[in-house]
Amino acid sequence: MAGRPLHLGAFLMESGHHVAAWRSPHVPARAGLDFGLYRQVAQTAERALFDAVFVADSVAVEEGPGAERISRSARFEPLTLLSALAAVTDRIGLIATVTATYNEPYHVARKFASLDHLSGGRAGWNLVTSDNASEAGNFGRDQHVGHADRYARAQEFLEVVQGLWDSWADDAFVNDRDSGLYYRPEGRRVLAHEGPHFKVRGPLNVARSPQGQPVIVQAGASEAGRSLAARSAELVFTAQPTLSAAQAFYADLKDRAEAAGRSRDAIKILPGAYVIVGESRAEAEDKQAALQALIDPVAAVGLVSRMIGNFDLSGYALDEPLPELPLTDSGQRSRQQLLTSLARDGQLTLRQLAMKVAGGRGHLSLVGSATDVADALQAWFEQGAADGFNLMPPTLPGGLDDFARLVVPELQRRGLFRTRYEGRTLREHLGLARPAWRGAVA
Ligand SMILES: Cc1cc2nc3c(=O)[nH]c(=O)nc-3n(C[C@H](O)[C@H](O)[C@H](O)COP(=O)(O)O)c2cc1C
Repeated sequence: MAGRPLHLGAFLMESGHHVAAWRSPHVPARAGLDFGLYRQVAQTAERALFDAVFVADSVAVEEGPGAERISRSARFEPLTLLSALAAVTDRIGLIATVTATYNEPYHVARKFASLDHLSGGRAGWNLVTSDNASEAGNFGRDQHVGHADRYARAQEFLEVVQGLWDSWADDAFVNDRDSGLYYRPEGRRVLAHEGPHFKVRGPLNVARSPQGQPVIVQAGASEAGRSLAARSAELVFTAQPTLSAAQAFYADLKDRAEAAGRSRDAIKILPGAYVIVGESRAEAEDKQAALQALIDPVAAVGLVSRMIGNFDLSGYALDEPLPELPLTDSGQRSRQQLLTSLARDGQLTLRQLAMKVAGGRGHLSLVGSATDVADALQAWFEQGAADGFNLMPPTLPGGLDDFARLVVPELQRRGLFRTRYEGRTLREHLGLARPAWRGAVA
């Protein structure tokens, strides 16, 4: 590609991103555990030349009022799903969300290194700290870990994982039948990490993986989230509702990366984009109206309750303004601020906010023709707001099919998006350098 390349992730959510997608007659029943559907959509995204598929996660079911009315409590574990998808795709990147809060670094390092080998260098780790407070109960705790502690643990967790990924030189395993030497001892690195949260000796029992290190993705946008991303993330997934908010976030994160001694280009920023596209603007608006008509207010208010930081809003009047809420400690601070501003600036009632958030959850939301959608994406891409987008299809498979059929060719016509894969690994798709081995530790 001649110009700066635009990157696309396909964010695969069971049924699709609209909270009522599972009620649509065009969405397969039990989509969250339908491997055939995932295979189909991953292959669609690969034919459309997306950089990666992206899978979010929680290690608990959704709880609270309305949880029984949404489709998020029966889903595949992401690394298992992506390992299966690795076998039915060739080129597309595979990004799994895995929490640093309820996990051990050795397990996580090993699983992502395995996925990188299985897929020939297509693995990415979306490091999160858990925004679902119910996870605590599944890991021996009564209370969720607080925001600051989650991030302190996450920073050290990441250092350990990256250290373990450097357990072996790229050419450590010589497999020399004649001499009988299986690996070169000087190509082995013993991490011997000891810190406030972890004591991990290493080495990892997986050879250095095709990408050297899987790609590090990060999705928190609070102060602590940004500083973690600036130091370590190579791809950032973010929720931005407007061009000006996205521009401010983009400039801030690139500045912080530079201040941390990194190049601005070493960190790619992909806002989510919730897109309903039709052959015409009217057709897209009809699709949007059909989905909105399926919304159950109890489910929609439940979604806002969780997205706004795990506060139960079910007892509040639907047609009154959103109540004042304290700063969340268990949830996403950045999303709490985003949704609170949306409600305040638009003078929305709780019902109106819930209806608005039911599709794109506060992300850039577009409803229109291919030209409308491409115009908006191009403006964000060219005006300092994005290096690409994590596409959030409203329904699966239809919402992704529509984008692949209508918007991708329009982006290609404009010279913004690739017309073939030039690389084989996720790093190559994203234009990210392959990290050098850090050498043996004495
Ligand atoms: C766009 C976006 C997507 C996120 N996806 C997940 C997710 O899939 N699972 C999860 O546990 N946390 C997720 N998070 C939460 C964060 O990663 C983070 O670990 C934490 O909950 C705090 O976010 P904050 O830094 O914005 O406060 C996401 C956050 C953002 C902004």
